[in-house]
Amino acid sequence: MNDTTKSEQDRVLIFDTTLRDGEQSPGATMSLSEKIEIAMLLDEMGVDVIEAGFPIASEGDFQAVSEIARLVKNASVCGLARSSAKDIDRAAEALKAAANPRIHTFISTSPLHMKYKLQMEPEAVLEAVHDSVSRARNYTDNVQWSPEDGTRTEHDFLCRAVETAIKAGATTINIPDTVGYTAPNESADIIRMLRERVPGIDEVIISTHCHNDLGMAVANALAAVEAGARQIECTINGLGERAGNAALEEVVMAMRVRNDILPYQTGIDTTKIMQASRLVSTATGFPVQYNKAIVGKNAFAHESGIHQDGMLKHSGTYEIMRPEDIGLSETNLVLGKHSGRAALRAKLEELGYPLSDNQLKDVFVRFKELADRKKEVFDEDLLALMSDSATSAAHDHLQVKFLRVICGTEAPQSADLTLSIDGKDHQVTAQGDGPVDATFNAVKALYPHEARLQLYQVHAVTEGTDAQATVSVRMEEGGHIVTGQASDTDTVVASARAYVNALNKLRVRSTKSAPDAATA
Ligand code: KIV
Ligand code: ZN
Repeated sequence: MNDTTKSEQDRVLIFDTTLRDGEQSPGATMSLSEKIEIAMLLDEMGVDVIEAGFPIASEGDFQAVSEIARLVKNASVCGLARSSAKDIDRAAEALKAAANPRIHTFISTSPLHMKYKLQMEPEAVLEAVHDSVSRARNYTDNVQWSPEDGTRTEHDFLCRAVETAIKAGATTINIPDTVGYTAPNESADIIRMLRERVPGIDEVIISTHCHNDLGMAVANALAAVEAGARQIECTINGLGERAGNAALEEVVMAMRVRNDILPYQTGIDTTKIMQASRLVSTATGFPVQYNKAIVGKNAFAHESGIHQDGMLKHSGTYEIMRPEDIGLSETNLVLGKHSGRAALRAKLEELGYPLSDNQLKDVFVRFKELADRKKEVFDEDLLALMSDSATSAAHDHLQVKFLRVICGTEAPQSADLTLSIDGKDHQVTAQGDGPVDATFNAVKALYPHEARLQLYQVHAVTEGTDAQATVSVRMEEGGHIVTGQASDTDTVVASARAYVNALNKLRVRSTKSAPDAATA
C-alpha cells in the first residue's frame, strides 16, 4: 500500500451539525447572522461538511441554508430532508448556490419508530428510502442517507435499507444512534456487520452520528471509526438534542493526541477550536461546563500543589496536549484603564476576535467604560464584552436605556426603568420581590408579553467583588424557547439586559413549522 492510499484510508471526514442538530437543543436558537458567522469559522477551520439546517422546517432555516450555501467556499454544505418529495425539493432549492451541495435524507427504520412514529409497514419504508434517495440524486450526486434510530434497528432490516439506499444512489450512509443508546462495542459491531453484509458498501462513505444520553457519544463515534466509519457527525461543545451529540473538539483531539492508537487524520485546524467553542456558546447562550473536556475553563487549570509543582518542572507531567494546540495562549497581559487601542486589538486578536478599525472603535468605548469600573480587565471580561456586543445590536427592537433600583432590607424593592421600544423611550417604576423581580416587572409593564421565565442564572466572570456577572435567562413563549445573556459589573443591569435580549430573540425567532415531525 503506498502512502497516499494509506492516508486516504485513514482520513476521517468531519461533518458538523451544530447549526442543525445543535440548534434543535431547546433554547439554542441562533440568528441568521450568528449562523453565518459560525459556518464561516467552521469552513476556515477545515470542517468537511457543514449541515446548515433543515430547510423545510422554517423560513429561517431555509434562509440560513441558502445564505451559507452561497458564502461557504471549501466545505460541502448540507441540508436535511425527511423522505418526502417536498422536503427534498426544498432542501435542493436552498442549496442551489452551493459549490458542493449535499442532501441528507432520512427515515426511521427501528420497529418502534416504524410502528408508532411513522405508522408505516417496513416494505413501505424501503420504498420511501428508494424514492427519496433517487429524488435527491436528481439534484446532486452528493447524497447522504440515514436510518433514524439506526442502532435500535433489526440487523436484517438495516442491511436491506442500507442496500436500497446505496442502489438508489446514496454516496454516504450515516448510522445514527438517535437516542444515545448504544455502547462502543455495539457501535463498532454494527459498522462491521454492515461492511460484511451489504453489497456495494465499500463504494460509499460510512458515517456515524452519536447522541450523548449515556455519556458515550464520543467513545461510540471513535469505535465506529475503528470499525471502518470514515465520517463523524458532531457539534461544537457537543450541542444537540437532549444530552447533545459527540463533541467535535473531543473526537478531533482524541484522534490527534492518541494518534498512536487512533491512527486517523482530519483536516481540522485545531487552533481554531477555542474560538469556535466561544462563538457557539455566545450565539446560543449555552455556557460551557467548567470541566468540559478540551474547551472547559478548567481543562488546562492546575489547582493542587502537587500538580502545579509537576507542571513547573515539565508541562508533560499533567498536560497531555498544549493549550496552544486548541488556540488557547498563555498570557499574562491584563488590561486596565490606561491600556490603549493597540493593546486591546492585540489582546482581542489573541482571543480570536480580529476586529476592523470601525469595530475596534466601538469595542474600545465599551472597554473604557468597563475599565473605569474595574481595576483589572481579564481575558474573561473581554470575552464577556465581546459576547455582549454580539448579542445586543444598535438596531434591537428593545433596549435598556436607564435603570435605577432601590433595594435592601426594607421592602418594597423598586425599579425605575427606561426602555427604548422601536426607537421610542418609555419609562416606568415597578415594584417586586427583590431588585431583579422589580426590574422584570418594569420590563413587563412597558412591554407586555406572554413569555414565561424558565431559568434565571448568574455567574461571576472573574473573581472579586468588582467582577462582572453574566446573567442567562431562558424564556418560553408558545412552545418556543430562547436564551438571553448579558454581562455587567452590576448584576441587576446584566439581568435587565439578558431579559431584554431574550425578548428580542423571541420577537425575531424563526418559527418552526410542523414541530412534531420536523425535528430529527
Ligand atoms: O439523531 C438522528 O437520528 C438525526 C438524524 C436526522 C441523522 O439527527
Ligand atoms: Zn441527531
